[in-house]
Amino acid sequence: MDPLRVERLARHHDRAVFHCPEGALDTYLRERAMQDVKRRAAAVFVAVSPGAPHRIVGYYTLSAFSVQLTAIPPQDQRLLARYPDVAVTLLGRLAVDTAYRGHHVGEFLLLDALHRIATTDIATAGLVIDALPNAAPFYERYGFRQLQGARYWLPLQTALQLFPEVLSSTADHD
Ligand SMILES: CC(C)(COP(=O)(O)OP(=O)(O)OC[C@H]1O[C@@H](n2cnc3c(N)ncnc32)[C@H](O)[C@@H]1OP(=O)(O)O)[C@@H](O)C(=O)NCCC(=O)NCCS
Repeated sequence: MDPLRVERLARHHDRAVFHCPEGALDTYLRERAMQDVKRRAAAVFVAVSPGAPHRIVGYYTLSAFSVQLTAIPPQDQRLLARYPDVAVTLLGRLAVDTAYRGHHVGEFLLLDALHRIATTDIATAGLVIDALPNAAPFYERYGFRQLQGARYWLPLQTALQLFPEVLSSTADHD
């Protein structure tokens, strides 16, 4: 597979042909993603290959978010300032087109999201996700820890230890 680059979702990307096993993630991309971008509810990033720049291989969304300090496991609280609310980033959605599964695109996108939040000027303590039932083991592989129910998080400090390459460029960003 050609090397991928990650771009902000734009009109020229073909949202209609994207297909993954979770229909709601297809519908979101088709029907809501551009609105979310416009209304600044989420930033939407897509992976494309240079040979097919309209074809969305996978995508993820990022939004500013917060969780209560008390919801964070005690061992992770030691990494944090003692404010009642912890500023984090929500990885609201992550999906890879079925045709591209098995090529570590999901991993590539997750590391790209971590790289992005590690290098932004706005402080964020980590990445939070509300995992679909089948996807929780995927996130656990990368060090995510359960907060409550389907909610997991990966402290940025932990991510930087686990994946030092996160601070180097993982993708050709726009
Ligand atoms: C979950 C998803 C994003 C993973 O992306 P992917 O490109 O298929 O996965 P990758 O190829 O990057 O997988 C990396 C590793 O994780 C493993 N893995 C992938 N999905 C997994 C899962 N659901 N559970 C456990 N392990 C998983 C792979 O086997 C691979 O392991 P390896 O390094 O030993 O080969 C993708 O399968 C998807 O879009 N699923 C449907 C939508 C979804 O569930 N999104 C998550 C919403 S919370």
